[in-house]
Amino acid sequence: MSKTYATISALPKVVGQHVTVRGWVTHLRSSGKVAFLVMRDGTGHLQCVLVKSQVPADTWERFATLTQETCVAVTGEVRTEPRAPGGHELGVTELEVLGASPLDYPIQPKEHGIDFLLDNRHVWLRSPRQVAIMRVRHEIKRAIHDFYDGRGFIQVDTPILTAAIGERSGLFATEYFEEGNAYLAQTGQLYGEAAAAALGCIYTFGPTFRAEKSKTRRHLTEFWMMEPEMAFYDTHDNMRLQEDMLVFIVERVLERCQAELKELERDVSKLEAVKGPFPRIEYTEAVRILQGKGSAITWGDDLGAEDETLLVADYNTPIFVCNYPKEAKAFYMKENPADPRTVLCDDCLAPEGYGEIIGGSQREDDHDKLLARIHEEGLPVDAYGWYLDLRKYGTFVHSGFGLGLERTVAWIAGTPHIRECIAFPRMMHRLRP
Ligand code: 4AD
Ligand code: MG
Repeated sequence: MSKTYATISALPKVVGQHVTVRGWVTHLRSSGKVAFLVMRDGTGHLQCVLVKSQVPADTWERFATLTQETCVAVTGEVRTEPRAPGGHELGVTELEVLGASPLDYPIQPKEHGIDFLLDNRHVWLRSPRQVAIMRVRHEIKRAIHDFYDGRGFIQVDTPILTAAIGERSGLFATEYFEEGNAYLAQTGQLYGEAAAAALGCIYTFGPTFRAEKSKTRRHLTEFWMMEPEMAFYDTHDNMRLQEDMLVFIVERVLERCQAELKELERDVSKLEAVKGPFPRIEYTEAVRILQGKGSAITWGDDLGAEDETLLVADYNTPIFVCNYPKEAKAFYMKENPADPRTVLCDDCLAPEGYGEIIGGSQREDDHDKLLARIHEEGLPVDAYGWYLDLRKYGTFVHSGFGLGLERTVAWIAGTPHIRECIAFPRMMHRLRP
């Protein structure tokens, strides 16, 4: 008889039917007459029940050989069982071992140190909490694509191997034939700006690289960034788009990831409070507020992680800190006509102390001002020739921003450290597995 396969998440649709579910054993328990096997297949957990008097002797004996992580195919009748995980169980008639697993599986139900877990990331990833985080990440990515697609933005893929430089943080270099060094992209933005002049509103979404020696809970050396770039958007339009996007993403996760948020013990009331408009605080004002709260910040400094936490403490939604001093920000940001010491930019800070999740700005569209900034920053003008061309051939008001995916996942999933928000994190001291 041919088998009907089902995933655990699809079982509610096949109650009363005989199906085969494949996955990995997570728990085993036997009374001698009745045995329980809990398995996971990535879509959920399923309790399978074997009754000794009702299964063939060899099936009952096979149960005794199972260990945690044995890969199995279990066949039986799907029954409603409110006390079982997921609300269903399988009355087993057949049990097949697809892949044995020796008893030394590294992840055991006890406290493991973080270094041990990261060394064993390839199997740690199977744990319910990690599965939940990956599923939330997937939903956030999907929400992002749906959001931009719904607004007619075109996705553009920008190079990872680059000659130009984007942000101030460290670069990873690699030999590139006769051309000297290529650098792993820190941002797709500059290419995104060129594409915006071709397509209007675009977004890029891919891995970006920063050789930052920061060992904080917010830094990876390889992280994913989504960067939209919009022709004819000024800094206010830019912030409105960020607001709409974040509200859309949070609503989508609340709608589709209830089970995952529960597994993560996320306080969903905090996410339900994320509604626009988000407060906008000018940098100069932020410094005044922070000084009032005891911070040592002075005008001209970038906000530190502690400053960000102090500042968001008064709000339930993300907030924008806008118009930073020129010196604290990248060369491409447009000078603020109302206060030329500052630029038209915004950092979006997530609530609950998760810190900066977005950096955005209106771009300098004046050719000569941009050139002067490139000189001031001591950047190689040659490498930026093509970027200056965008200001030569039909310059245009435009803005954009970068959303850090792992930081967004950390905030929404309520994960203190972003190393759990990507399947295989890359950090200063970690290149394996
Ligand atoms: O503020 P950043 O450096 O801005 C840019 O790269 C611009 N080119 C974006 C743009 O305007 N198109 O980085 C944007 C976001 C940060 O807010 C943060 O969420 C994330 O990228 N990010 C990091 N995430 C993890 N690890 C790191 N080392 C990160 N550096 C930045
Ligand atoms: Mg930034």
